[in-house]
Parts: sequence; C-alpha cells; structure tokens
Amino acid sequence: MTDSKQATATNHRPVLVVDFGAQYAQLIARRVREARIYSEVVPHTATVEEIRAKNPAALVLSGGPSSVYAEGAPELRPELLDLGIPVFGICYGFQAMTHALGGTVANTGDREYGRTDLNVNGGVLHDGLEATHKVWMSHGDAVHAAPEGFTVTASSAGAPVAAFECAERSMAGVQYHPEVLHSPHGQEVLTRFLTEIAGIEQNWTAANIADELVEAVRAQIGPEGRAICGLSGGVDSAVAAALVQRAIGDRLTCVFVDHGLLRAGEREQVERDFVAATGAKLVTVHEQDAFLSKLAGVTDPEAKRKAIGAEFIRSFERAVAGVLESAPEGSSVDFLVQGTLYPDVVESGGGSGTANIKSHHNVGGLPDDVEFELVEPLRLLFKDEVRAVGRQLGLPQEIVSRQPFPGPGLGIRIIGEVTAERLETLRAADLIARTELTAAGLDEEIWQCPVVLLADVRSVGVQGDGRTYGHPVVLRPVSSEDAMTADWTRIPYDVLERISTRITNEVADVNRVVLDCTSKPPGTIEWE
Ligand code: XMP
Repeated sequence: MTDSKQATATNHRPVLVVDFGAQYAQLIARRVREARIYSEVVPHTATVEEIRAKNPAALVLSGGPSSVYAEGAPELRPELLDLGIPVFGICYGFQAMTHALGGTVANTGDREYGRTDLNVNGGVLHDGLEATHKVWMSHGDAVHAAPEGFTVTASSAGAPVAAFECAERSMAGVQYHPEVLHSPHGQEVLTRFLTEIAGIEQNWTAANIADELVEAVRAQIGPEGRAICGLSGGVDSAVAAALVQRAIGDRLTCVFVDHGLLRAGEREQVERDFVAATGAKLVTVHEQDAFLSKLAGVTDPEAKRKAIGAEFIRSFERAVAGVLESAPEGSSVDFLVQGTLYPDVVESGGGSGTANIKSHHNVGGLPDDVEFELVEPLRLLFKDEVRAVGRQLGLPQEIVSRQPFPGPGLGIRIIGEVTAERLETLRAADLIARTELTAAGLDEEIWQCPVVLLADVRSVGVQGDGRTYGHPVVLRPVSSEDAMTADWTRIPYDVLERISTRITNEVADVNRVVLDCTSKPPGTIEWE
C-alpha cells in the first residue's frame, strides 16, 4: 500500500483539542462538533508551527493524568498562549495554562473525584445556570490563584479556583470535565466558550460536508482512476462506498463477501437496497461453504475469530483478483476504499498519520506489482456524523441506523460448533427479536441486542403434546455510548413476552428464552 493524500479536505477552521493524554480528548472533540463547530484532536507534542498551520479557530487544552509538577508531565508549549488564538483549559489543561500564565497551582495532595458541587459567582461561562450545580471533578492539584487579568468565576470545596475567564484574551478554563455526561451543564458551558468568548460561528454539520467529501475523493482518484471497496453490510463501508460512487461512478467496484454468518435479510439489504440507493457496481461472492468447512469442529471463541478472519482475507483477495482480471484492457485498479473513522485515526497516532491500515484489509497475496492507495473519506468523522452523511446521500434508514454487528457475525453467537442448521435456528430467533424490538420503538434506546444460541446446552420443555429437549436462546439487550461500558436495557415485560412466545412457537429446536441482565463490566456485550 502506498501513502496517500487523503480525501478528507474540509474548509472549516478547526477547534484543536490539544491531547494531554486524557481518555477524554476525543470526547471533547465530539462535544465541540455537537455544538456545530468543526474540531480535531492534536497530540500535545505537536509543534507550534504544526498547530498554526491548521489555522485553528480556538484551542481546547484537554485533561491529562498528571500533575503539572510531576516528572515528565506533558508540557504545554507556552508560545501557544501568545498566538492570539482563544484558549479553553480543562482540568490538567486548566492547570497547565494557569502555570504558564503565572498563576498558582498548588500540589495539595487533596483529591477531588466524582460529582461535586460547583459554586458560581458570575462570568460568561456559567451565566444563567444555578448558583450551585453538579459537575464532574477528577484532580489532585488545584489552582489557588488565577493568572493576572483573569476573573475567578467558580469554586468548589477542593478547588478554590474552579473556573476563570479573561474576555480581553478570549481565554477561559474550568477545573471540572464539561465533556462528560456527569456534568449536566457541561455542553452549555463549552458552547458558551466557543461562541461567546471565542466568537466562533456554529455552522458545521456533517450532512453539509457530503459535497466537500465527494469533491475531495474526485481530486484524489483523478479522472481515470479505478477503486474497489469491500462492503461489510455495516454503516461505515456503505457510506464510504456511496461517497466514492458519487465521485467516480462505475469506476468503483464494491465487493461483498457473503460468509454465511449474516443475519436474515442482510445480504439482500446490500444487494438490493444499497445498490438501488447508490447505483453502485457490486460483486457478491458466495463463500458460505468455505467458511463452514473452516469452522467445522471449532468451539473456542478466539479460534473461531481467527478462522473467520483468515478465510475472510482469502475470500476478499480472490474477489479482488477477479475484479482486477475483468478491468478493461490497459486500465488498473489503484485505490482501495476504507470506512476508517476518526476514533481509529486518533487512536493510531493522530490525524496526520497513515498508520491506521487495519491488518485484515491488508490484501497481501495479490500480485506483487499491485499496490493500492487508500481512500478513506470518513477519516475525520465520528459515527453519528457518518450516519448524517449517509442520510444526506439517500442511503436507506435500515443501513444508516444499523446497530453494531461484529465482523465474525453469528459465528460468535452460537456457543459451540457453528453448523448450517444452527445458523438457521439462530437467524430465525434473531429475526423475531429484531422485528419485535423495532416494532416496540426500542431501536434508539438499545445499542445492540445480540441473540445467542446455547447450542451445547439442552433443557427440557413441554410443547404441544409432549416433552421437548431443545436449546435455550439468550437475549442480550444493552444500552451504551461507545461499547466500552454498557448497561442491560430494561425492555418492557410485554415486549419480552412477545419475543419469548414467538421464538418458542416459531423456531424449531428452541424451547426456552432467557434474558441476560449483566452490565459491562463484568460481562462483555457478546458472549464469545
Ligand atoms: P464486547 O463483547 O467486547 O463487544 O463487549 C464490544 C463491541 O464490539 C463488538 N465485537 C466485535 N466486533 N469483531 C468485530 O468486528 C469482533 O470480533 C467483535 N467482538 C465484539 C460487539 O458486537 C460490540 O459492539
């Protein structure tokens, strides 16, 4: 693969979140975008020149794990505060900015952690909010004196200076974390800084950038270039492919590997609905038998994942080789489209790198002289923004708002060996659960609801005239923001009853439906 000038140009001046190592930097960027202002994350090691080159509308200094006095504490480059760019400090960022501007950060050793009362006394950031309200704190050091020219506008029991502002310099900061949901007014406070102190207009929406993205793809691929894209049935690859299709039409070929581990209707959704909405040229390869034979006798979850992953690469390579062979004489396919999202980019080292080629897309095994340049039109977008772009492009609701589904598919939702019959059973039960949850209007509330077949467990039942000895299925409905943690969704009893009755009546071999009421942690979302 070759490096690429990525097709992700945007004309918006970013608010740069300077990442001091907090797990919250991405979340801050997302919150800024929720305020309809474009934002990117940069590492704190970015040079002043690199930051200036991005022409930022403001800087937000993120929290971080350290004390400003700790050895090796991430450094705030003081010159960043002299660029005339508005600056907002959060937690560690607040303390680092205090330190750099001549205020006092005291290493008291007193920790303040969790929901805390914030006492407000004036200022723009908290204007109109209750004089005392809850915020989320997580700090050891505390600011004891604000820098000269700054007005202290809030305090808490453990932080005498919990917020300050300086209108003349368009700077402000808070000791607490406005980006987390545990600070109920946090989004308002962040938005106040951006709009009233930094004076930024709220005109970013992901939907509006569909045209910009299409133009950028066109510029990257050029008037003759050809591209391929592997579709998974998921939102990201569908939206990426739709953008590229709009940019280069039939010079894009989409490849869909049907591994037989999909849910009912998913292949049809790609073959019929996606193609109808986009006009994309699609090659489907039917590889069910190949996958089943690789899974024969395999029961260990990781062994299943490995077998499925390896076979997927082989199937995809075969399909791509077929596409290359059938390309018009004299032409070549130079571009590989991927649905990489912004969180992957940030996690793999920031917005500038190309170190984010996922191994399963590394199509080794192709002829040596074939090299692909990556096209990643979504690499600056968060998931909810990808959905907005998808809607803008006219993709069907079922694709755009599809809940997450694991790559290994139903293969890791059959506890025991995966066989064609067991897949049929699980597919039927899953379809009933999905249909009833959708009919009950629960799709928004539920992040995803794995239906799991305990194929190696049998239990006694009584159905019709006699005794049965069938399998249980488990419903695993979870609510989550990011799948890192999750709570089990309290589905109304009448909906559970309908699902249970229908599955036990309509799906042969299943005589029991049970509910998984475990949060994550300790349970993961999937059973395998
Ligand atoms: P867990 O089970 O780890 O799942 O709580 C978190 C999220 O990741 C999905 N998941 C996978 N996705 N390949 C994938 O592409 C996998 O092997 C895999 N395992 C879990 C899961 O569906 C949930 O959204």
